[in-house]
Amino acid sequence: TFKAKVLVLPGDNAGPEVVAEAIKVLNLINKTRNNVELEITNALIGGAAIDAEGTPLPEKTLRLAKESDAILLGAVGGPQWPRPIDPSDASKGLGPRPEQGLLDIRKALDLYANIRPCSFASDSLIKYSPLKENVVKGTDFTIIRELVAYDTLPYTVSEIRRVTRLAAHLSLQKSPPAPIHSIDKANVLATSRLWRRIVTETLSTEFPSIPFDHHYVDAAAMFLVKNPTKLNGIILTGNLFGDILSDEASVIPGSLGLLPSASLSGLPDGKSKCLGLYEPIHGSAPDIAGQNIVNPIATILSLAMMFRYSFSLEREAKAIEDAVEKVLQDQEFAGFEFRTKDLGGNKTTSEMGDKVVEVLEGFLEGLNSEDR
Ligand code: NAD
Ligand code: IPM
Ligand code: MN
Repeated sequence: TFKAKVLVLPGDNAGPEVVAEAIKVLNLINKTRNNVELEITNALIGGAAIDAEGTPLPEKTLRLAKESDAILLGAVGGPQWPRPIDPSDASKGLGPRPEQGLLDIRKALDLYANIRPCSFASDSLIKYSPLKENVVKGTDFTIIRELVAYDTLPYTVSEIRRVTRLAAHLSLQKSPPAPIHSIDKANVLATSRLWRRIVTETLSTEFPSIPFDHHYVDAAAMFLVKNPTKLNGIILTGNLFGDILSDEASVIPGSLGLLPSASLSGLPDGKSKCLGLYEPIHGSAPDIAGQNIVNPIATILSLAMMFRYSFSLEREAKAIEDAVEKVLQDQEFAGFEFRTKDLGGNKTTSEMGDKVVEVLEGFLEGLNSEDR
């Protein structure tokens, strides 16, 4: 029996709403799938933690995170924070920011690489893209965003090397190896010139079979919407550019509510220790929180990444992804437009989660009988 401890950090605003749907999926797998036992614990992060404990990353949360095998996070932040330290005395200034909790947990767990795949689960979903069908058809890239440096953007040789090796590891899972497109601003930033030199050196000496090229970030931002398939494969970039390009990339499949992510502390090769934190790429969507309309798909797909990278349970990961794909293919449920408002539908957050659970249940029974 496969056993693992999962820590759940719902966060703020729409964070708990999307996490609730992913938890339905986790509970279903726990209940239905033979030989998988997950122990699920909840803890506070972000604004919720500031309000309860005065800090966005309480020690208890960090301890539980270190003791767990994988972490599922919703999103943190919103207009409620930072709160004044003393509402009657403005000179005391403002309290902590929820986002600091996320930056701190990533740093404390050494989650140096953030993997953000962007593709169409199936061609039937292309109609949800605001871009032209012939432009986006066939889009299939994964953004690997270095996650540690922030604010000042300095990079060390070893930080660039390890994230490049992770990109190479993922590239080599495809046959032939997926091309790596490294994105920087080497025409202006000294740190980007180092980035370009180390990426080139690492790939050409250690991974001669992987094709790679370099693009400046401004041009890459343009190609991403003009001709996204040009960047198919793996997009390797630093923290800030990866943050910006991944929100832009979400427009290709149609919504920020679709793209999942995994943040890892090692190589997901099953050999080395590799802790993973899984979260949608979007934020806490305070403008639509609390109305049961936020799209939970990105969070559910983040769970699939957890099964793939932290648990090496590829069939369960694929089953979750297939269930999502099937639910979004509305023709399967004649008469229903099974999607949330961000994709032009009218289904609620919980209806989406329930439908994924219903479809997934059948797939999991299938896996059980394959094993018998
Ligand atoms: P956001 O990603 O929360 O929202 C941007 C827009 O996309 C909004 O209009 C929102 O309604 C929409 N959107 C986002 N997720 C959606 C979903 N699942 N379904 C449907 N629509 C969705 O970004 P923002 O508004 O710039 O930031 C809000 C707060 O979230 C800020 O405090 C920010 O710092 C924080 N944030 C947190 C994370 C994180 O925890 N990882 C990531 C990004 C932003
Ligand atoms: C993300 C977010 C975070 C980041 C913020 C909220 C700290 O934008 O996860 O994409 O910059 O990493
Ligand atoms: Mn972001």
